[in-house]
Amino acid sequence: MLIDVRPVRRLRGADPLRVTVMLEPVVDALAASALDLSRVSVTCDWIQYRANFRAVADFRPILAVPWRSAADFDGAGPRSPRGGERGPAETALEIALDLRRCAEADLPAIVGRLLAEHADPAASDRVALEPWGTASRSCIWQFNSLYWQALSLWEQSTGRAYEQALPGGESDARNVEAVRDLILELFKTWDDLDARGALPAELYVIELGVGNGGQARTWLDQFAALSAAHSTDYYRRLQYLMGDYSPHVLERARQAVAGHADHVTALVVDATHPAFSLGFLRGKAFLVYLSNVYDNLPSDEVARIGGRTYQVEVRAYLPAADARRVGEAVGTGPEQVPSLVSKLLRLGPALLCEALPQHFPDTDRAVAFWQEVWSALQLQERYAPLEGLDVYQVTADMTGELLRPLLDAGGDIRMHVSNGALSSFAQTLPLLHPYGRLHCHDLFLADIRNYRSGFFGPGKYDGSVVNWINGPLLHRLGSRMGYDVRITPFVARPSANVKTLSAQVRE
Ligand SMILES: C[S@@+](CC[C@H](N)C(=O)[O-])C[C@H]1O[C@@H](n2cnc3c(N)ncnc32)[C@H](O)[C@@H]1O
Repeated sequence: MLIDVRPVRRLRGADPLRVTVMLEPVVDALAASALDLSRVSVTCDWIQYRANFRAVADFRPILAVPWRSAADFDGAGPRSPRGGERGPAETALEIALDLRRCAEADLPAIVGRLLAEHADPAASDRVALEPWGTASRSCIWQFNSLYWQALSLWEQSTGRAYEQALPGGESDARNVEAVRDLILELFKTWDDLDARGALPAELYVIELGVGNGGQARTWLDQFAALSAAHSTDYYRRLQYLMGDYSPHVLERARQAVAGHADHVTALVVDATHPAFSLGFLRGKAFLVYLSNVYDNLPSDEVARIGGRTYQVEVRAYLPAADARRVGEAVGTGPEQVPSLVSKLLRLGPALLCEALPQHFPDTDRAVAFWQEVWSALQLQERYAPLEGLDVYQVTADMTGELLRPLLDAGGDIRMHVSNGALSSFAQTLPLLHPYGRLHCHDLFLADIRNYRSGFFGPGKYDGSVVNWINGPLLHRLGSRMGYDVRITPFVARPSANVKTLSAQVRE
């Protein structure tokens, strides 16, 4: 049996984790079971997000290659995770533990329930909200989108603005010093181009994922002031495009920058496919500016286990007790909850009340249902073998071959694919002017080896999803496209998790 303890830094210091104490009841329960322990591994994480998608302990089957008949794992034949029918066979089983919550949990009872479910899927106490699939297609991303589309309803009900959920309580993009540095660098480029008579009449800047407009307002205020101090007409020539997929958020941002209205255009843009609406700016943008957006775009995860590559498949579910509770509150049984959730995701809370007044007499009731489901929602996981990296479509234009060097770097690893960020990045770079740059503050992992010693999402920030971004993958993609990509500490808070990625045409 393999035991993998990832939060190694917590094993030392003044109050070290007593990991062996936590593991003891788990190992005892497994030892007393009929499982073939030579095919069992225990993976211990420390899930730093208090709101997250993980149970304190769970089983993650490692599925057999579909075209080969798997040796029965425990002599009882292949297992199905659903409803008793025969499903994909397992070759091994990973037990996942969240060490942060182990001390308070009744681990023998939890592992006992998991063993019972494993032996008989009909004994499961989960209410599935979707079929198994890749993480980027999970309904958690529809929840994420709903949050931004109906932000005010969520905020009214919690009394908290979304920015308060960010580390530090506000976006780093509002840091005035960092903004001024960025603008002054832009001025340097423009002064040089101007001196050569090569500066275009209109100076385009694009911001993607605008939130409440605080980032845009800080940037525009500083820009106007520096332009005046610099005695240039850069502000007069500035065209600032704000793009977001939520019309609701865009309107809020537009109001926040009303003082700069002559220089601002608000556009509905899907940040994962910016070329679709912003293609007309190809080669023209001097700055594409993002903060806390890539960590909010859909991502798969892949894993290398014992030399084979797997897709991490997920299935959103509610623990049965939570499904009963949220169902009761709207006058229905737990079995109806998945269909109410899918209607909520399709219609949003306001229209849901019109469609189903018998369950949702007013918007408050629908919002409460949304929040309760989101808070209870968890992801079950399993590892499905990937037939080949070349047949794994990471984005519409990119295959999993991009991942190969990182997966081949040695040893077992599980990492994000950052599909949404890769697609966004690949479509944004061509929008840049030859002297333009992409500048992005976000939760970038700078080194692939970090995945071996930490947990990097997904977690929940209020109603949205947060997932760190696989920096080396973006780096590799940018390099292949001829750009110089750098990931550096955020100057204003060098010790912060947020880092700055910048990309410009390689000289
Ligand atoms: C965490 S907020 C960040 C807002 C702001 N940049 C900041 O730093 O405060 C994420 C923003 O990205 C937007 N967003 C998320 N996914 C998007 C997508 N696929 N296309 C466009 N905008 C998206 C959300 O609507 C929201 O405005």
